[in-house]
Amino acid sequence: MTLRAVVRGVGHYLPERVVPNSEFEKLVDTTDEWIRSRSGIERRHFAAEGEMTSDLACKAAEAALKDAGMSIDEIDAIVVATSTPDLTFPSVATMVQGRLGMTKGFAFDVQAVCAGFVFALSNANALIVSGQAKRALVIGAETFSRLMDWTDRGTCVLFGDGAGALVLEAVEGKGDISDRGILTTDLNSDGRYRDLLYVDGGTSTGTTGHLRMEGKEVFRHAVEKLAETAHASLDKLGLSGDDVDWIVPHQANIRIIESTAKRMKVPMERVVVTVQDHGNTSAASIPLAMSVGHARGQIKTGDLLVAEAIGGGLAWGSVVLRW
Ligand code: UT7
Repeated sequence: MTLRAVVRGVGHYLPERVVPNSEFEKLVDTTDEWIRSRSGIERRHFAAEGEMTSDLACKAAEAALKDAGMSIDEIDAIVVATSTPDLTFPSVATMVQGRLGMTKGFAFDVQAVCAGFVFALSNANALIVSGQAKRALVIGAETFSRLMDWTDRGTCVLFGDGAGALVLEAVEGKGDISDRGILTTDLNSDGRYRDLLYVDGGTSTGTTGHLRMEGKEVFRHAVEKLAETAHASLDKLGLSGDDVDWIVPHQANIRIIESTAKRMKVPMERVVVTVQDHGNTSAASIPLAMSVGHARGQIKTGDLLVAEAIGGGLAWGSVVLRW
């Protein structure tokens, strides 16, 4: 028997304020047409003043618990993927723990920027298969609107705020690819690329800072590395793109999503796409897409999913799971 981390519930939360591309035409030298054609983004949500990453994370967690039919007392670990914590510390995860009323177990944040949710899932999976946790809430939550330089048209039009969450539970499986749950993960990073995508603030400046990105270069790495990591995960299981029911990609740019699907030989009909409505929500984008894909009736019990993401670091990776 093999312990598997099986998805029991999924949920998400998006802040109320929807910002269409046209709003940026008043702010910087851009057009709705440019943003749509170069990124696929049509609108994004921005958090209200005073609405913090932990608020979004709590709401997504509550939705996932409701979907699982579980109460917070049944959870023994919370892992939050975020690069936009309310404060430097304590972690967003412990804030969620406190607010939801969980008085046992443990909670911590994972920071791998846009690849954060893949890293968080891999960590939660390791906790579950090693018996350190039985039921884990894994949350991706971000307020990237707070990192924007509103004069930089190359970045400010691309990002949005939101949160998504999964409830994972330890279940005995057979140990083969017919099992439900996380089947494998593949994690990578290469710190030589730190200058391609970073925030120019932190303890070194005493400020939160602004996001800086060499968009073209990140794009080039994304197209290459996302297909590579997805293939690496599938290879470990003796699977190929043909076996995949759904790619759930990081939602940064429709052109990256399409190119990765093409390299994996998976038609776009089997790719969950939400980038048009959410923009790039960093670590929240994959759980948001999972939740929306599930609500749309696309992702069903027993489906084989590949989730893949890349972000600052560079850090990138993939997860194969049977829903
Ligand atoms: O989540 C982490 C991973 N992040 C990503 O995956 C993002 C990766 N990068 C991208 O998605 C794309 O590179 C962008 C959407 C950021 C940019 O698209 P691009 O096709 O690579 O455009 P570009 O950067 O080559 O810029 C082309 C032109 C430039 O003008 P010139 O130099 O040709 O005159 C830019 O200045 O488009 C200009 N430009 C804009 N024009 C109108 C850049 N941003 C804008 C804008 N509106 N918002």
